[in-house]
Amino acid sequence: MTKPWTKSSWRAKPRVQMPDYPDVEALAAAEEQLGKYPPLVFAGEVRTLKTHLAKAANGEAFLLQGGDCAESFAQFSADNIRDTFKVMLQMAMVLTYAAKVPVVKVGRMAGQFAKPRSAPTEVKGGVELPSYRGDIINDLDFTSEARVPDPARMLQAYTQAAATLNLLRAFSHGGYADVHKVHAWTLGFTEAEEAERYRDMANRISDALDFIKAAGVTQDNAHTLHSVDFYTSHEALLLEYEQSLCRIDSTTGLPVAGSGHLIWIGDRTRQPDGAHVEFCRGVQNPIGLKCGPTTTAEDLRRLMAALNPNNEPGRLTLITRFGAGTVGDHLPRLIRTVQAEGASVLWTCDPMHGNTIKSATGYKTRPFESVLREVKEFFAVHKAEGTHPGGVHFEMTGTDVTECTGGVRDVTEDDLSSRYHTACDPRLNASQSLELAFLVAEELTAARDARAVKVG
Ligand code: PEP
Ligand code: CO
Repeated sequence: MTKPWTKSSWRAKPRVQMPDYPDVEALAAAEEQLGKYPPLVFAGEVRTLKTHLAKAANGEAFLLQGGDCAESFAQFSADNIRDTFKVMLQMAMVLTYAAKVPVVKVGRMAGQFAKPRSAPTEVKGGVELPSYRGDIINDLDFTSEARVPDPARMLQAYTQAAATLNLLRAFSHGGYADVHKVHAWTLGFTEAEEAERYRDMANRISDALDFIKAAGVTQDNAHTLHSVDFYTSHEALLLEYEQSLCRIDSTTGLPVAGSGHLIWIGDRTRQPDGAHVEFCRGVQNPIGLKCGPTTTAEDLRRLMAALNPNNEPGRLTLITRFGAGTVGDHLPRLIRTVQAEGASVLWTCDPMHGNTIKSATGYKTRPFESVLREVKEFFAVHKAEGTHPGGVHFEMTGTDVTECTGGVRDVTEDDLSSRYHTACDPRLNASQSLELAFLVAEELTAARDARAVKVG
């Protein structure tokens, strides 16, 4: 028998990857304060997102999830938010135009602050200190004071998330995302091949819009052309923060995580009996679950039973992240498990976390070719199994960083030091993101054509 869920029932379960706060009074004070603040997202939005994800699970939409590996207090600025939002709009337009499917846009934004780490400590120049765990927990500076977990950081993260979401809502509905501005979203520095390709497509979209206008189809549904729906997501790692922002939805009486629209469980915190699964099972938000090479069929069965016992469409997104060259070794077993259970899930591909390497110059990087290869393998396996490749999940930014190697503008290992700004994992830059969107669009178009042939 499963014990009843409460927003604090995770506290009785084994927890991993969470800080031990030395100052318990300061922790209690921060939790109390956060508990009084308004939620960042609302239950109705969360339910709408779930219906969109249910469509993506059926192949009637496609999920584009992307943003920073870790949001940072130091790099918080309107320009950074705008640039990531803008490149996601461009990518979504490329996917919609090519594959003729609606794209569900979800940022790794407005709450993506806490990071699981592979080692509890870090050694530099013979000095060993606790690892950096994201700005919501401690500070990146390599000093012992900076690395002490400080609960007051949760309040700063909340404030930053609220301001980020406010700007995203303004961009989404205030005219910036109007499809008639498809040309204006071009980023100044993307002058390469993919920018040219984007401009061509934008011209064709403008022509189509002119035609629609000339034909007099401007009244009905016009609002859908003038704004977009944009949702937020993050890894629900820091459960004190999640619990403090959990609220009861007045319409349904059900608990909802108020910290973001979609929350996910990381590959390191997905223990079926652990604290993270316990918290997530009780909130009505769409839940993401990272599945890596060590995810067994039995793990997945137990996780699906815990997280989506009623098999609700759109509730569970499986974000697979195996590494290029190994998708065929792992994905088929998980797909067959889902099919054997008759479960409804949305399959998406995170081609970032299985492809991190250390460059000769010491920087953590990800080769663009490996990222692309994992995406292609994801599509190929779904084709072979007859299931829907429903989305992609990227670590990316709208700025011109040099963190991942490769791409048409070929970032080399020697370039990495020039604009390496990430607080955690390496991100695709704007040009690489757009290039990848064109390549994903080709895969998606082929997948849809193949299905049409089968059905027709
Ligand atoms: C992440 O998405 O930043 C992450 C840590 O991923 P994973 O849990 O898949 O390693
Ligand atoms: Co990451």
